[in-house]
Amino acid sequence: MYELYPYFTNDGSVGLFSPEADDIYHSTYGALSEAYEKFILPSNLKDFLKKNNEIKILDICFGIGYNSKSFLNFLLDFIYSDTIDTYNIKNIVKIDTDNKNSNILHSCVRNNKKFKVFIHALDTDKNLALLSPFFVTNKKISKNNKLSFKQEKIERMLSKNTFQKFKLRKEVNILLLLKLVNNIDNEALEILANKKYSQFFDNDIIGLLQFLKQNNDNLYPHNKKLSFLHNIYYKYISFSYKKALNTLKLLDFNFKLNIADARQSVKNDNQIYNYIFLDAFTPVKCPCLWTVDFFKELYKHLDNDGMILTYSNSALVRNAFLNAGFYVGKIFSESADKFTGTIAVKNKTLIKHELSEYDLGLLKTKAGIFYRDENLNLTNEAINSAHKNEVENSNLISSSRYIKLLKNGKS
Ligand SMILES: C[S@@+](CC[C@H](N)C(=O)[O-])C[C@H]1O[C@@H](n2cnc3c(N)ncnc32)[C@H](O)[C@@H]1O
Repeated sequence: MYELYPYFTNDGSVGLFSPEADDIYHSTYGALSEAYEKFILPSNLKDFLKKNNEIKILDICFGIGYNSKSFLNFLLDFIYSDTIDTYNIKNIVKIDTDNKNSNILHSCVRNNKKFKVFIHALDTDKNLALLSPFFVTNKKISKNNKLSFKQEKIERMLSKNTFQKFKLRKEVNILLLLKLVNNIDNEALEILANKKYSQFFDNDIIGLLQFLKQNNDNLYPHNKKLSFLHNIYYKYISFSYKKALNTLKLLDFNFKLNIADARQSVKNDNQIYNYIFLDAFTPVKCPCLWTVDFFKELYKHLDNDGMILTYSNSALVRNAFLNAGFYVGKIFSESADKFTGTIAVKNKTLIKHELSEYDLGLLKTKAGIFYRDENLNLTNEAINSAHKNEVENSNLISSSRYIKLLKNGKS
């Protein structure tokens, strides 16, 4: 029986724990906030959307899809934006002649360009991907936000109050559901029906799934079925559902899910991407997705003006990117006031925060020795063990000695 270990992270979105990897999928800080802050905000996406109407994204380690969902949410906000600075949106300017200050009322009509979006989602876990549209995101955390499993470290970091920075539109989950509905199998249905997880799933989306399943095998039921939808008991979902269908008119949205080792999926792929999100478990837990050889493969799939984003600040990850041919920069989070990740690009001008002298020095210590997997087929254990050997036999100085030397003023 497939087991989930869900909990509410501090922004009211669901996070998961993996006993096998002994690692969390999402930080207690907030699963949705983290996705936004680490993958979307540093991606310069707004500028990209102003200049382009076709975008291809490779979401490595899709899990329950926060990075792709945050992207779709950002895109919908962009499309529907009513902010004045939105590029390419016709401002209907009405001058209020009675008002001496010429109070200008701006209202915006939708940006009339149609976006063509392709998301390629990779993961080894089918259930997570299939369940991705159903997870609750904006839950108000109650005072007894407790874990149903034993994990003291997680428990200590759980908050009693929700902070909510980003709100996920319901249409985002509906758009994903429309793409995944035909793949949803009995195992996923059993998990959805399991009472112990019920607080983590959105009943409206489960209702919509039942509606879609009952009514057809056709992916996009249209007008005839919509009128039927009016009769179903939850009006709200009907509204979001119609909105999602309308969104599809503005959006040529393609979604492909590959359930396999990401190394194989990437090797068999022939697409070039504008953005690659790399959200694997930590390097020591999942080294196969952090090797110089995997990064060389990613190089072939990144557009010349594309960007790989990852949460890792590790010296060996940065060194591997450099050795795979990329320019490497850092992600700075304004809210946390610190560097929270790494970007890898082919076009150096896309880097806003360069590696410092200190960072570059660190790459030349043992901490910068990267993982290798020449034929992209080694197990994580084999990669870790070869890496351990290489570090032990290396003549490079250790990172702690490097830091000590720097403190003592020696370069
Ligand atoms: C940190 S979680 C990713 C969280 C995810 N981005 C989300 O929004 O939920 C890491 C994911 O990597 C997947 N994974 C582990 N090894 C993999 C591999 N070799 N290829 C593809 N996915 C893998 C796991 O199933 C897990 O979903």
